[in-house]
Amino acid sequence: MTVLLVFGLFVVIATAHNITSLDVPRYGDPHREANLVCYYVNEKNDPPLHSVKWYRGTHEIFRFTPEQLPPTRIFNTTTGGGVTRGSCNLHSCAISVVLPRSYNTRLSFTCEVSTEGPRFAVVKQTKNLTVAVILREDPVIVGVPGIVQLGEDVLLNCTTGNAMPPANIVWYIDGKPERTEPWMVNNTQVSYPNEFGLRNSWRSLRLRVNTLRSLVSVRCEATQPTWPPYVRSANASLVVARSPHLSMFTASGSSTTVFEISIAVLASCLSSVHIFSKYSALSEV
Ligand SMILES: *[C@@H]1O[C@H](CO)[C@@H](O)[C@H](O)[C@H]1NC(C)=O
Ligand SMILES: *[C@@H]1O[C@H](CO)[C@@H](O)[C@H](O)[C@H]1NC(C)=O
Ligand SMILES: *[C@@H]1O[C@H](CO)[C@@H](O)[C@H](O)[C@H]1NC(C)=O
Ligand SMILES: *[C@@H]1O[C@H](CO)[C@@H](O)[C@H](O)[C@H]1NC(C)=O
Ligand SMILES: *[C@@H]1O[C@H](CO)[C@@H](O)[C@H](O)[C@H]1NC(C)=O
Ligand SMILES: *[C@@H]1O[C@H](CO)[C@@H](O)[C@H](O)[C@H]1NC(C)=O
Repeated sequence: MTVLLVFGLFVVIATAHNITSLDVPRYGDPHREANLVCYYVNEKNDPPLHSVKWYRGTHEIFRFTPEQLPPTRIFNTTTGGGVTRGSCNLHSCAISVVLPRSYNTRLSFTCEVSTEGPRFAVVKQTKNLTVAVILREDPVIVGVPGIVQLGEDVLLNCTTGNAMPPANIVWYIDGKPERTEPWMVNNTQVSYPNEFGLRNSWRSLRLRVNTLRSLVSVRCEATQPTWPPYVRSANASLVVARSPHLSMFTASGSSTTVFEISIAVLASCLSSVHIFSKYSALSEV
């Protein structure tokens, strides 16, 4: 009991440096180096900084020791995840690392900051990086008609940009996933790799308009099977004609402009980006 109390007191008094932020991107493109930064502070009366070490997994890959010459050392450059350069001072330590070319590999990077003796207090933080080229943009839905008639068949096509691993696409109609509906196609098409080994995905949706409501909302959700999954989506709305009134309007000519304007607004795709929040503990960059 006494030991615990004394130990607790000691920790409070002899504080170490504190890591205020660890910037490790959640996803890393293997075509370029990943830039990692560790930020730290020391409080008044803290002993000076002794060293900052970077680890990939359990292997030390970089060390900054301000009191030594040279102050920085690079370890293990030959394997994937090797450091190409580093730039550190008493407040931050930035390194650039080469990523392995194997997609969906998860690397963990640790920044460890230690304070000068006598205690050499150590603080560290770890974050994961998944090797992936994530979608830069939301998918695009084409084929959205201005106005659809009841009973009409509509063919929509949703296409993603280049990514790796390629995205899987799921359509939602009025919030319900496509596969619950009988009239729809069931697969994501994936292109051949481009010169950088990236692929794009598309999936079409045949939809029979069969609703009493005036709008059908569709959503195309593209998910890359990374960890955590990376999701991008696009929304669009179909305006259902209120026949027979609509045919009267369109036939009369003068009112069509009004309809066309409202169609243009409604048909413009709404998009959103989100990453499954249940995985958000992974890294807040
Ligand atoms: C370290 O910094 C964080 C955020 O600035 C703060 O919440 C935490 O209390 C600090 N820890 C110590 C031991 O000073
Ligand atoms: C370098 O990294 C490889 C693979 O991560 C590991 O097997 C090896 O032990 C490391 N070498 C050193 C000196 O840390
Ligand atoms: C959907 O778009 C892709 C290209 O993005 C194209 O290759 C494909 O043929 C289109 N499918 C349909 C049914 O239009
Ligand atoms: C549709 O896809 C699911 C999983 O993606 C598969 O289990 C099912 O067999 C597919 N159905 C058809 C008709 O291809
Ligand atoms: C897209 O639609 C979904 C539900 O269908 C909704 O949750 C989301 O907020 C919409 N996104 C935008 C940008 O409107
Ligand atoms: C990082 O990945 C490892 C498995 O590789 C997992 O055990 C750990 O929980 C992950 N860390 C975070 C912060 O999600």
